[in-house]
Amino acid sequence: MAKKLFIKTFGCQMNVYDSARMEDALSEAGFEAAASPEGADMVVLNTCHIREKAAEKVYSELGRLRQLQMQKTEADGGRMLIAVAGCVAQAEGEEILARAPYVDIVLGPQTYHRLPAMVEQVTQEDGARAIDINFPAEDKFDHLPEEFAGQGISAFLTIQEGCDRFCTFCVVPYTRGAEKSRSSVAVIDEARRLVATGSREITLLGQNVNAYHGDGPDGKPWGLGRLIRELAEIDGLWRLRYTTSHPKDMDDELIEAHHNLPKLMPLLHLPVQSGSDRVLAAMNRRHTADDYRRLVDKLRDARPDLALSSDFIVGFPGESDADFARTLRLVSDIGYAQAYSFKYSPRPGTPAAGSEEQLPEDVRRDRLESLQQLLRSQQQAFNQEQLGRTLPVLIEGEGRTMGQLVGRSPFLQPVHFDAPVHRIGQLTEVRIDEVLSNSLRGTLLDVIPQRATV
Ligand code: SAH
Ligand code: SF4
Ligand code: F3S
Repeated sequence: MAKKLFIKTFGCQMNVYDSARMEDALSEAGFEAAASPEGADMVVLNTCHIREKAAEKVYSELGRLRQLQMQKTEADGGRMLIAVAGCVAQAEGEEILARAPYVDIVLGPQTYHRLPAMVEQVTQEDGARAIDINFPAEDKFDHLPEEFAGQGISAFLTIQEGCDRFCTFCVVPYTRGAEKSRSSVAVIDEARRLVATGSREITLLGQNVNAYHGDGPDGKPWGLGRLIRELAEIDGLWRLRYTTSHPKDMDDELIEAHHNLPKLMPLLHLPVQSGSDRVLAAMNRRHTADDYRRLVDKLRDARPDLALSSDFIVGFPGESDADFARTLRLVSDIGYAQAYSFKYSPRPGTPAAGSEEQLPEDVRRDRLESLQQLLRSQQQAFNQEQLGRTLPVLIEGEGRTMGQLVGRSPFLQPVHFDAPVHRIGQLTEVRIDEVLSNSLRGTLLDVIPQRATV
């Protein structure tokens, strides 16, 4: 009988992708995904270290798992293995083992292909534990199993990992290591495999995805623009997205791709973090607010309907009221369709955490509140603009109420409408009749013809 596996994923999309890969690796070792951790033979927490809150969640989650682990032993004498993977494991591996003696396995983001071997190792003797937080020279992507479950209509595909930019607030260069791109051949091959399992939309992932420079078939490095041009040729693949980009790595070939390729969706996540040149410099972002404005102009020239999304950090050490006002001004100038914003959180080992100009919590909180108010109103205005329009919607599944399906607009807005279930997976036109707080509601019109075969 298959052993039951439950993976809980925190953090960014790359962790979602990694969890799918771990599931694939473990299915070859006889594990099958379960819907809940109760009674599971193995539970993996795939963790995130980006902000303090994210990292703390791991320990509260572990406390709950400990109870389930004991219940399982009491109920059937079985052992529930607990593994901690991802960025907290990378940053605090030894500490996790010390703080949570019931954790069996700790592994970093670069070693998940070794998970089946680690499971084997700890099950051979009672009380054995394993830790692997190395950055091995071998390529984990070479260990992708032949069989893989696929990810459904909308899939993630990691093409680049790690980061060399060293923004002064960020742990990613430490938890994920140096920047590394997969070869274009490997990426195209995986994209084809995803399409063969039914995926119609692929989001290319990387911590700094537009720094992609994987080997092309000609041995010369390809940029992201070139890669996307090639992926757009795949029949049966209807939509492409990529995330997350750094403004400094947005080259002309990629901007061109937004102009030329209708499959490349018109929503771009392009984090700016702050609108103050002084803060941007202290963050080591290596561009000014006006550089960013000019870049957005260029992108909008290439693709007039392009919608923008961003990340912001408020209350970075030394940020003055005037600096913060510049962030608000930049937001007003650009007009975002959606955005994520965070209070600065000092992270161990990062340069900004050592700054003596840390701001009090109430300042950070108040600034976050006013920034979010502005961003919310922009998002509502953007959603409101869709009223009465007809949008192409990729239908992903059933909605919350009977007879209703849900899909995504080109701008990632969830769209609900009445339609029979056999239409799941189709790309259709939907007329938007109503704008709700986090979604749109509409009426199904025609199917948009596509080259559907693989
Ligand atoms: N590679 C991406 C972002 C990775 S982290 C980029 O370059 O933009 C995702 C977001 O978390 C960041 O864009 C930033 O806004 C936020 N973030 C990262 N470190 C943070 C910290 N120490 N405190 C608060 N927010 C942080
Ligand atoms: Fe972190 Fe900056 Fe790299 Fe993004 S570009 S992952 S924010 S160091
Ligand atoms: Fe978090 Fe690691 Fe992603 S720190 S945001 S899971 S790269």
